[in-house]
This record gives sequence, C-alpha cells and structure tokens, in this order.
Amino acid sequence: MSLLKFLAINALELSAPATPLLLQQQKPTQPKPLGWMQLSGHPESIVPTTTGIVRKRIQCSEDSEVLAYQLISQEPQTSQIVPAYFGLRELHAQHYIELQDLLAGFKDPCVMDIKLGSRTFLESEVSNQTLRPDLYQKMIAVDASAPTPAEHEAQAITKLRYMLFRESLSSSHTKGFRIEALRLRGRTPVKDLKTCRSNEQISNTIEQFLATRRSVQKELLKRLKHMRLVIEQSPFFNRHEIIGSSIFIVYDDQRVGAWLIDFAKSRQLPAQLSINHRSPWTPGNREEGLLRGMDELIHSFEEVYARSSSHRGCLKI
Ligand SMILES: *[C@@H]1O[C@H](CO)[C@@H](O)[C@H](O)[C@H]1NC(C)=O
Repeated sequence: MSLLKFLAINALELSAPATPLLLQQQKPTQPKPLGWMQLSGHPESIVPTTTGIVRKRIQCSEDSEVLAYQLISQEPQTSQIVPAYFGLRELHAQHYIELQDLLAGFKDPCVMDIKLGSRTFLESEVSNQTLRPDLYQKMIAVDASAPTPAEHEAQAITKLRYMLFRESLSSSHTKGFRIEALRLRGRTPVKDLKTCRSNEQISNTIEQFLATRRSVQKELLKRLKHMRLVIEQSPFFNRHEIIGSSIFIVYDDQRVGAWLIDFAKSRQLPAQLSINHRSPWTPGNREEGLLRGMDELIHSFEEVYARSSSHRGCLKI
C-alpha cells in the first residue's frame, strides 16, 4: 500500500466525527490543541476542536463554500482531495461548517499554503469602473513608479487595475500560483511571502521547505499529479470557477498529505459557458488559471526533485 493511501485512510479515521454531544460542549474559546496552527485567514474564523475537526465560520447556510463541499462530497474521487466534510453546525448563534483537521495526527509538521490561480479575485469584485484615489495611494505606497503618467495625472485608479497590480507583485500572474505561507519544523509560520516571485526564489523556497527528503518529494509529486487528474475529470470543477483556493501541504517524519482547501469564492458557471482552468483571463470568460497553477507548481516541484538528485553524493550528513 502506498504511503498516501495509508495516510488517506488514517486521516479519515483520525477525523471520524465525535458524538454530537461532545461537539456541543465545546466552546469556541477553548484553548487550541497542541500542534494546531493557522497559516492564513482571519484567526477568529476557524476554530479547531480536540476531535480532529475544525469549524470554519460562514455567513449563512447558502454560503458558496457549503455548496462546494456538498457537491464535492458527492464525487468519490474529488472528495478525497479536499478535507473531509462533516456538515453544518450552529453554535452560539454562529454558523459553521465542520471539516477534517488536516493537521490532526501530525507532529511538529512542515506546512505550506499555496494559493492557486492566475486571477485571485472574482469578476464581480472588479466590475465597478469608478476611479479611486484611495487605491492610487495604496499603489504608490508600494511602488511609486507603478502608475502610468495618466494615472499620476488622475491620482486615481480602478479596482481592477489595483488588483492586477497586486497580482503582478507575486507569482500569481506569471505562474498561476503563489506561496502564501509556510512553516518549517520547530519554527513560527512565515506569512510575508507574497513577493516571492522569480523562478529562483520559488524553487529555493520549495527546496528549503522539502529539505533533502527524497521520499517526501516523491510522494508529494505523486499526490499533486493525482489531484490535477481528479480536478480535470471532476463534474464540480468542470462547472465552477475556483477563486482563492489553496493547496495545503503537510508532512512530518511519518506522513505526507496535500489537499485543496478554501471554496468561499467558487462560483457556478453560467450554463452556456465552459472553462478549461488554463487559458488566460479576459473579462467575461471566467478563466482563473487553477490548473495552469497546478501545472506550474508540479513543474517547480519536479525541478527541485531533479536538482536535489543531482546534489546527491555531495551532501555528507
Ligand atoms: C462604485 O464605487 C464607488 C466608489 O467606491 C461607489 O460610490 C459606487 O456606489 C459604486 N457603484 C456601484 C454600482 O456599486
């Protein structure tokens, strides 16, 4: 049995739902169980329990993320590449979804969060063409030479222009993914990686993350390729635009895991529209580059794998 198959089974067992009574007794203010960490998102919006389940706060039960998990859990293959979904729960007048705690059972793990997509905003978020002085100010605070002469003249830019500028700072635009956050063994999480952009910066970061662990590299590559294949064949991914989702990678001495997470900005496509998740975005075509990002990510991992094999024999540890 492959390591990952073992892991998948093991992970499922670890996150078997506890009795409803036990869950209800838990208050969101309880201390976090050992080893739990949140790399990105709002700290209060995700509440771990001690039972291998995390609760993620949502606005209402018609939430896009709920719909996504409901649809995905009907697909046997696809449901294996996302956290196990245990349903909705209302607690202390808040709505939550309950998901598998992906860190349950790992000891002092290395963790990486990679945001997928060459477009990381919804079309509806940038449809307003109003020129905004506040976004011009934000832009020049980052890079005073970024605005065009006309934009300097107007001292204002559109939301779309600002979002594209932000993406150009990271590798999202060029590669379809960006390393959002990571944690190395025994260290505090690093979150300011949004400007990690060049090929060299990215492969050095991945190399650092994977250390020289050949077995981890091999299992991860296999898992990422499997995930890509499942996405390509999934009815859910065929019918949805996927914005702001991440690949979440975890490993320790014993185990390796990778899942696709965060579906708050997944949107069903209009009936007449289909996308391949790889073509460049033009306003209205809804392409977001999800699979293009996976292609590039797999390529980067392969490069690191090849590089570290050529290093073999030089490292005398
Ligand atoms: C567009 O944005 C401007 C400035 O933020 C706002 O005043 C206006 O109401 C928005 N228009 C629409 C249609 O949302």
